[in-house]
Amino acid sequence: MTHLLAGLDAHAQRLASTSLAQLIASDPARAQDFSLRCGPLYANFARQRYDRVAQATLFDIAKQADLAGAMQQLLGGETVNGTEGRAALHSALRGGAVGSTFALAARAQAVSAQLRMRELIDALAATEVTDIVSVGIGGSDLGPRLIVDALAQTGARFRVHFISNVDGNAARRVLAGLDPAKTAGIVISKTFSTQETLLNGSIVRAWLANDTRLYAVSTNAQRVADFGIPPERTLPMWDWVGGRYSLWSAVGFPIALALGMDRFEQLLEGAAALDAHALHTPLHANIAVWHALTAIWNRNGLHAATQAVLPYDDRLKLLPNYLQQLVMESLGKSVQVDGNAITTETVPVWWGGAGTDTQHSFFQALHQGTQIVPADFIGVLKADHPHAANHAALLANLLAQTEALANGQDSEDPHRRYPGNRPSTLLLLDALTPHSLGMLVALYEHSVYLQSVLWGINAFDQFGVELGKQVASRLLPALHGESQASDVVTQALLAVIHSQANAN
Ligand code: F6P
Repeated sequence: MTHLLAGLDAHAQRLASTSLAQLIASDPARAQDFSLRCGPLYANFARQRYDRVAQATLFDIAKQADLAGAMQQLLGGETVNGTEGRAALHSALRGGAVGSTFALAARAQAVSAQLRMRELIDALAATEVTDIVSVGIGGSDLGPRLIVDALAQTGARFRVHFISNVDGNAARRVLAGLDPAKTAGIVISKTFSTQETLLNGSIVRAWLANDTRLYAVSTNAQRVADFGIPPERTLPMWDWVGGRYSLWSAVGFPIALALGMDRFEQLLEGAAALDAHALHTPLHANIAVWHALTAIWNRNGLHAATQAVLPYDDRLKLLPNYLQQLVMESLGKSVQVDGNAITTETVPVWWGGAGTDTQHSFFQALHQGTQIVPADFIGVLKADHPHAANHAALLANLLAQTEALANGQDSEDPHRRYPGNRPSTLLLLDALTPHSLGMLVALYEHSVYLQSVLWGINAFDQFGVELGKQVASRLLPALHGESQASDVVTQALLAVIHSQANAN
């Protein structure tokens, strides 16, 4: 597939001496024409560094790569995760599946799990439990953490807290503020073999006053039972859902507890609306396709090594963390589906933080650094708070940054010169609701998948994280002094650790 991308360099060279400001001045209609809307989600790509000619090439690539067919395969439950022989049917969890037998069966399983979630929540609401501790890591943590932080309202029936890091300080800090008699725990792990989650789950199990208040979400019912949680308090997961695509499944149990099941279902409906858009909208009007092609242009045309994501809404401050896993665990590959080494660059480093805080930390480098960092700016139009002056300032800053990065400003003093020409996409939500946030997250999911199709890589495996886990389990006995490390540097480091431990 990557042979299709070979023409991008020529377009980038053709446009190298045309600034973004010139591109926009010579084609004022692009402010309008490079914008798309899907319900409450508006996207503007006018400040990307392609012109209409380069863009036509990008859409031609999308056509030749059959991105429309790829969406059908994904939502139809075909084996898009070839290295593990699995489908990736996260869309079925929210009703966005195509009508293949397999996808419909997946949908039926998802609906029955949702009914069980509702029953468990109703039962828990009838107890004195006020707080929930959710234990999980990676895909079993980042999605629920993001959505709860964004949408939980004060005065909700349950307060939900998260423990992920194996560092015992994480558990200590969360549990310190809670009453074990009024708390329930959820251990979330697709495999139920993740070291961090089993250790933290054991801490919570021992800490709870009443261990009938411990729940599990997993594909592996046997390991859950061995851990001591019975089937009636276990919610299912399936191989056809990737961990980082799983917040829509029972992995979202903490979300449903924090928001209520009705608002959880609105989140699913928002994602399903984006599924329908991504599946049925022609390439030229398809936001997921535009977003994916823009990512490919910035990486393989402009060779940008990093990509920033900048939510201008404090409630979305965890979005960069969430997207780091979604994008980099999915696309951080250098081998194609057929096993051959890829000949183009794949995923850039994704990073970011919430505006306006980040304007006072790393924006200096965005404006005047030597590396060009394409950015996704995300804004929310409705404030949902009474501080109108703050909201106006927030939106003014959002607009100002995208404009200043694009246009720059000349000066006789080189220190005060802003080169501009720095590309960005602007995504706006009419309001931050379960529905609109579901759409936004699903947009990124589909963009990631479409990028993987264009690069010919598998977006749904993550073998790269396994080696470190294996080495860590080999080193655990060495840390206890029960074995020797084989690596000389690690031996020296263990000696430092052991000498400090003996001194204390
Ligand atoms: O970080 C690697 C990983 O396998 C992720 O893909 C996954 O989301 C996370 O670990 C947690 O895995 P599990 O849900 O099986 O505990």
